[in-house]
Amino acid sequence: MLGSLLSTSDIEATIAPYVSSTGDWDRAVRKVHKSVKRLECNGSQRSVSDNYEAKWSGVDPAERYAAGGSVAPFQWGQRPILMRSLAVKRVYLLYLYRLIEQLQPRSVLEVGCGTGINLVLLANRFPDIRFHGLELTRSGVEQCQRLIAKQFPAQLLEFSPEPLTDMTAHHNISILQGTAADLPYPPDSFDLVVTVLALEQMEQIRARALCEIGRVAPRAVLIEPFRDWNRDGLRRRYTKANGYFGATVGNLPSYGLKATLTAADHPMKVHLGVGVVVAERAEPRSQPLYWPRQLLRLIGSRIQRSGH
Ligand SMILES: C[S@@+](CC[C@H](N)C(=O)[O-])C[C@H]1O[C@@H](n2cnc3c(N)ncnc32)[C@H](O)[C@@H]1O
Repeated sequence: MLGSLLSTSDIEATIAPYVSSTGDWDRAVRKVHKSVKRLECNGSQRSVSDNYEAKWSGVDPAERYAAGGSVAPFQWGQRPILMRSLAVKRVYLLYLYRLIEQLQPRSVLEVGCGTGINLVLLANRFPDIRFHGLELTRSGVEQCQRLIAKQFPAQLLEFSPEPLTDMTAHHNISILQGTAADLPYPPDSFDLVVTVLALEQMEQIRARALCEIGRVAPRAVLIEPFRDWNRDGLRRRYTKANGYFGATVGNLPSYGLKATLTAADHPMKVHLGVGVVVAERAEPRSQPLYWPRQLLRLIGSRIQRSGH
């Protein structure tokens, strides 16, 4: 059984350098409302791929993280917070540090690893673990490969929520280009799969991606906008308009996974609720309504054909 993950003071300390003490939270929220009204996206894997090919080709990932992103309105429970948007990525990293300490995997795959920032930090925090990344886009893979090959960037040292133990282990990360719908690894290749805001982009291949995760590892840590945290209001509108991941934690058994822990007591964007879910492989829940319905349809069509 996993113990409690992060205390309030852990989270306070992690976001502190990015919190803005000036600025008008209500005004920032009104701006988000307006921009969500204009959103329209079909969420297809083609458009996801086009978006991220373009997004990753023009960035220096270490510079991007050092800058911390733009200031955005967050909520932690009822508490309003204005902070740089990447502050919350530091909180996710701290969750990953704690979970990896507790789960003690020997090998970890990050699915949808983007430019590889999570992987290089995790590898240098846990140098004895083998880290692998899978990413859809060519430009993301190239960024990962550049990051892995070069000396560890000093800016990222600052971004890590806790000290790193090795500055060279990131050179051992393996990266592949591919899709989560068809992971290019044999069953049980890893002890743990991690996703951070990646399933978010995979609503159209949700079932395949989740089943594949359970095929290649017995456990997963999914830091994602499950429906549980985006049921209504602005968050529902935003996730729907973006075609984002729409599963609930309770849906996981349909994909052969079951949640053993969830955590959601941390700052979330006002328009996107992201929780931490630890899941284990389980027998897929049978879908009892499916085959009787098929059978009835078949009987119905036979009766029609025989003219009764
Ligand atoms: C929001 S980014 C998150 C990147 C990274 N996990 C992070 O925390 O910085 C989502 C990533 O998922 C990738 N992605 C989307 N669909 C994918 C798929 N079917 N297979 C693999 N990666 C995918 C995108 O290309 C993008 O790099």
